[in-house]
Amino acid sequence: MPDVHRKGIGIMPEETATHLPGAHLDIAKMPGHWLLARMGKRVLRPGGLELTRSMLDALSIDSSDHVIEFAPGLGVTARLALARQPASYTGIERDEAAAQSVRACLSDPRYRCLVGSAEKSGLEDASATVVCGEAMLTMHTPGQKMRIVREAYRILKPGGRYGIHELGLTPDDLGEAEKDAILRDLSAAIRVGARPLTSSEWRAVLETEGFQVRAAFTAPMHLLEPRRLIQDEGLGRALRIFFNILRTPAARQRVLAMRRVFRAHQDHLMAISLIAVKPEAL
Ligand SMILES: C[S@@+](CC[C@H](N)C(=O)[O-])C[C@H]1O[C@@H](n2cnc3c(N)ncnc32)[C@H](O)[C@@H]1O
Repeated sequence: MPDVHRKGIGIMPEETATHLPGAHLDIAKMPGHWLLARMGKRVLRPGGLELTRSMLDALSIDSSDHVIEFAPGLGVTARLALARQPASYTGIERDEAAAQSVRACLSDPRYRCLVGSAEKSGLEDASATVVCGEAMLTMHTPGQKMRIVREAYRILKPGGRYGIHELGLTPDDLGEAEKDAILRDLSAAIRVGARPLTSSEWRAVLETEGFQVRAAFTAPMHLLEPRRLIQDEGLGRALRIFFNILRTPAARQRVLAMRRVFRAHQDHLMAISLIAVKPEAL
């Protein structure tokens, strides 16, 4: 079982399912990530836990770090980051119910989750040594992506590290028509405006705001493939997810449609994590 789900660092009890983000939304129209969460899925990023671990290892969080996570979702990465016992942790999550589920796994007063936007976190300048965010920039427009990355830069101390884990397009020279088709199909299937970028485009987003990219990792986009599901969620939870999807026809239709789109474009989709540094002052 993935260690993030073990008791102690802990899986959420099933009875909290009614308090999940989007619990009141229509299955046919709700954002894909909250639909998957309703079916029991907890790991909502394209490269799964393996890419998350690569990102966290490269960020080398330790007890001296002040960590900010943008969009922690259901708190899976928060748990992994907290296992490294940073000096502080602050999640900035737009969704109140999601923020509540993150708070449920925080018992130390140095660790908190605030409801807010990563575009304007309200945190002090140069107050963090590490910022990370997964599966959140992809769903924003170019202008919003820029504002979020700028915000990460503002709140980081010089020398601070920024890790992202997002949906990527490949190869770098993918034609505009193909990109448009992928964006259109993805957005229709997940019901969120998805705007993945190529590896060079993601780098450029970070570099334009002043970051220096130090490392890059990629993984296949296998979010809904059975093997990844079991790797990420553990066998027991994966079986529950399969069962929940099977017995909910509207959800089954949506999940199959999402997987069809992921598979149809699999040659051009990937998960990508970049690690960047805010340069030390000159
Ligand atoms: C696809 S989910 C990913 C959740 C989590 N990071 C994960 O990888 O499992 C997207 C998350 O981003 C959050 N979100 C989207 N835009 C945001 C913003 N501007 N500020 C903070 N949170 C945001 C959503 O509420 C949701 O929790």
